[in-house]
Amino acid sequence: MNKKTIGVLVGSLRRGSFSQKVATHISGLLEKEFDVKFLDTANLALYNQDLDNDSSLPQEWQNFRQAVNALDAVLFVTPEYNRSMPASLKNALDVASRPYAANAWSGKPGAVVSISPGSIGGFGANHHLRQTASCLNIYMMQQPEAYIGNIADAVDDDGVSDKSIQDFLLKFAGAFTDWVNKFDACSHADGTKAVETAEVAMCQSCALPFNEEHKRFFSTEPDGSRSIYCNMCYRDGKFTEPGITMDEMIEKIVPILGKSIGEDAAKKEMSAVLPTLERWQAGRV
Ligand SMILES: Cc1cc2nc3c(=O)[nH]c(=O)nc-3n(C[C@H](O)[C@H](O)[C@H](O)COP(=O)(O)O)c2cc1C
Repeated sequence: MNKKTIGVLVGSLRRGSFSQKVATHISGLLEKEFDVKFLDTANLALYNQDLDNDSSLPQEWQNFRQAVNALDAVLFVTPEYNRSMPASLKNALDVASRPYAANAWSGKPGAVVSISPGSIGGFGANHHLRQTASCLNIYMMQQPEAYIGNIADAVDDDGVSDKSIQDFLLKFAGAFTDWVNKFDACSHADGTKAVETAEVAMCQSCALPFNEEHKRFFSTEPDGSRSIYCNMCYRDGKFTEPGITMDEMIEKIVPILGKSIGEDAAKKEMSAVLPTLERWQAGRV
């Protein structure tokens, strides 16, 4: 069985960052059970909705969104900046939350560790991040909470050196492992299982099979786990030339989706996403 993949996002871009040391320590513990991947947030252009609508969608955004889509869970390790999370982290959350209704974070289990050289342990950052995570439908682990204060005393050049913090992080990693394993890989918010993309063999806009030219690249579901459009039909945040009508599209999608989640559930899913698809097709999002 494939291992689940946990993405780690570090709130600090600083060389010698305390957060990075803590994140590296936790990832070493998680690697026994999961594939762990650090996601780079430093090169993401500041979110600007115009870029999602124009033909200038930054490649780094697209890469980042795809990287988030591919994750089964997310771990945030962050310092506190002015009682909130650092802008780079908020920007990363915003970038992968769009375009509208293609929120790549949705349905994934997550956890947050905040750190600070001060005694409050980044409580403000931790809870601002939780506020955003709840809007993005990330299922945040509630306990144990992780506010690590006086971090400068707990690390050295080689990483986390303080025994009591090491013990705490071991407990935290164990709880997070249990939390992640409560979820199906890439499960949907309503409990239905992710559809294997292999089952969706053709683009639901032009109905052509996916191949070298017509690459499957865009996710239609709010949790970002399903990709059914080809790059010819859906580009730069909107449809180019819709090849078929909405009714025809639904007629094609329902039997394909129905194979894995049942026809009734497929119809229900399609009626839930229809308004969004219509807005996309009309180029209004
Ligand atoms: C812009 C800025 C704002 C900060 N605000 C806070 C804060 O609100 N609370 C806090 O505990 N530390 C604050 N700090 C101090 C950081 O916690 C400290 O620099 C920490 O080492 C940053 O984490 P890092 O080592 O992972 O880079 C702030 C630092 C910066 C640069």
